[in-house]
Amino acid sequence: MADEPTATAPVEEQLPANEGFEPEIIVFACHYCAYAAADLAGSMRLQYPANIRMIKLPCTGKLEVIHLLKALEAGADGVYAAGCLEGECHYLKGNLWAKKRIGYVKRLLDELGMDPERVEMFNMSSAMGPAFAETARDFTARIRRLGPNPVRPRDGYAPAEVVRAQMGDAALPQGGPEAEDDQTTPSS
Ligand code: FES
Repeated sequence: MADEPTATAPVEEQLPANEGFEPEIIVFACHYCAYAAADLAGSMRLQYPANIRMIKLPCTGKLEVIHLLKALEAGADGVYAAGCLEGECHYLKGNLWAKKRIGYVKRLLDELGMDPERVEMFNMSSAMGPAFAETARDFTARIRRLGPNPVRPRDGYAPAEVVRAQMGDAALPQGGPEAEDDQTTPSS
């Protein structure tokens, strides 16, 4: 299996960075892979930007289109899902459903005149701590170059909290990857 995240990041080198802009980025992380990879990155003392706000899911199949749109509406400058490698989802196809939903939201953003590169899907295993950190760094650089979300509220916004509240039980409490094992299943 490839030891690289599987999405391309074409925007990173194409636009100048927006000086002084610190993006707010929401990561919907599967607790079997990306969330565990983040833990590994932490224990390996790998640096990744503090711009990342993680929402832990039992599987990225729990992620609905409405959650992605709500994240952007609530002011997130960028959003990505980080799920298990294709063929390794614990619920078989949850990561493929997430990929489809991300693709749908990208097309929707394009139609609305908003850059579809603000939303992305990545795949990784729990052993890919360095890939987790690299993905977080690359995506943050991408969003820095794209600039602030044009529908970002002026002030007082906390998109991760808004989305977490909207998701209710679909999101897991923050904590170790062993929490709530197999308590919930992704939606189809
Ligand atoms: Fe990890 Fe489905 S994406 S269990």
